[in-house]
Amino acid sequence: MIPRKIEAAINDQINFELYSAYIYLAMAAHLRFKGLNGFANWMQIQAQEETVHGMGFYNFIIDRGGKVALKAIAQPKSEWKSALAAFENVLAHEEIVTSRINNIAALAEAEKDYATRNFMQWYISEQVEEEANANEIINELKLAEDSKEALLMLDREKAQRIFMFPVIPGGIKAPGAAAP
Ligand code: FEO
Repeated sequence: MIPRKIEAAINDQINFELYSAYIYLAMAAHLRFKGLNGFANWMQIQAQEETVHGMGFYNFIIDRGGKVALKAIAQPKSEWKSALAAFENVLAHEEIVTSRINNIAALAEAEKDYATRNFMQWYISEQVEEEANANEIINELKLAEDSKEALLMLDREKAQRIFMFPVIPGGIKAPGAAAP
């Protein structure tokens, strides 16, 4: 049975992961409106990943005999002054996600809930990648500066990103995926 405090923290995190998906979908819509379809594709795939992150927590609560409680998802912003501003927002948001994930891991340790502590390890490693990806794109956009040509080249490159189903040990698995 999952401790109540942990169940509550993970239920909050389901909401935050789905809120992350909502933010990235809003960014995708904005970037598409601005004609930056490649960056929009990147954001849409990011939103899909966030939904899977949320479902990983959802399934974990169920597997531990707990109760999933879904809450209202906050309204995201709808405008960013540039692609760079949107990706800076991604990084700032991911830093918040990282601190929330760390807090759940710390709470699991304090509660001696080692199943949750173990489960959180995947998310801890994932956050290193999430922040690195955002940082990389921020640096590319800074290098492009005011060059429309460079911006369009980067946009075309981001159009190549494809959705790879994140396989979370003990969490949701891709349809037909082998158990990790
Ligand atoms: Fe689910 Fe981008 O953290």
